Amino acid sequence: MFLVPVEALRQLGPRTVSYRESDTWRSGMLCRDLLTMITLVDVHKSFNGQVVLDGLNLEIETGKITVIIGQSGGGKSVLLKHMIGLIRPDSGQVLVDGVDIARLNDRRLNEIRKDFGMLFQEAALFDSMTVGENVAFPLKEHTRLKSREIDEIVEQKLLQVGLKDVAHKMPSELSGGMRKRVGLARALALDPKIILFDEPTTGLDPITADAIDRLIVDTQRLTKATCVAISHDIASTFKIAHTIGMLYQGKIIEVGTPEQVKASGHPAVQQFIQGKAEGPIMDYYVLDM
Ligand SMILES: Nc1ncnc2c1ncn2[C@@H]1O[C@H](COP(=O)(O)OP(=O)(O)O)[C@@H](O)[C@H]1O
Ligand SMILES: [Mg+2]
Repeated sequence: MFLVPVEALRQLGPRTVSYRESDTWRSGMLCRDLLTMITLVDVHKSFNGQVVLDGLNLEIETGKITVIIGQSGGGKSVLLKHMIGLIRPDSGQVLVDGVDIARLNDRRLNEIRKDFGMLFQEAALFDSMTVGENVAFPLKEHTRLKSREIDEIVEQKLLQVGLKDVAHKMPSELSGGMRKRVGLARALALDPKIILFDEPTTGLDPITADAIDRLIVDTQRLTKATCVAISHDIASTFKIAHTIGMLYQGKIIEVGTPEQVKASGHPAVQQFIQGKAEGPIMDYYVLDM
């Protein structure tokens, strides 16, 4: 973190730097790292006495794809939900573009959520709505656009994810990969500057998974959005990530480029990326026969 005079930020222009009105902004100085879109500081979260996040620290780089890896049930979805304010921490800070969203009221949180697009696990489409209505949903909720304008955006977002002539279909008529694409089109509807992906390729066959991975990379290149994905799929992670972080026992124990993480000296990281049953991460006991 460093202090930047607001005037200097203004001169950089809105495309290079995005900033939000805040107390620090009003006081004439902005306290944020230009390269960091989301910062989690000492985040703790427990559910009924079960510690899930245990003093977690993480910085998400602006305009890059960060993938958080970790075992199932390890708290990856909980971490992602903190970033968009769907879960509030017991303690700690969740800074999004310099604003601590953990302390915002629901109205301001709702405002900030417009900057986010989220592709949920299983795509989470509204099954009783058509594909087009699904993609139009955030536009109807958050904008006053006319229905003709909304239709145009829906068509454009569907094209962007590689879908044509599907707006009238029901989600149940689509394959798993196509449902993911629709989920992404919906996430992109409001041109978010941050896109969150919860296990984007889990449950897909390897070919479809590869196509979705490419779509994520292409979407990031096109939109320049800051992307955070969580995954337990190592092949997919190494295909798309600029930065990889590993969540283990409620903390980020390693973070770096794919090469740096591959070379990590942490036994749990090595066990995870090599997919071995033996090691510090224990799902079950390997019996001595
Ligand atoms: N809303 C909640 N209430 C209670 N427990 C929860 C809630 N959300 C998640 N958990 C628990 O937190 C742990 C981590 O869950 P999750 O983040 O979904 O894991 P992952 O995404 O890494 O598979 C699990 O034990 C889960 O049961
Ligand atoms: Mg999960």
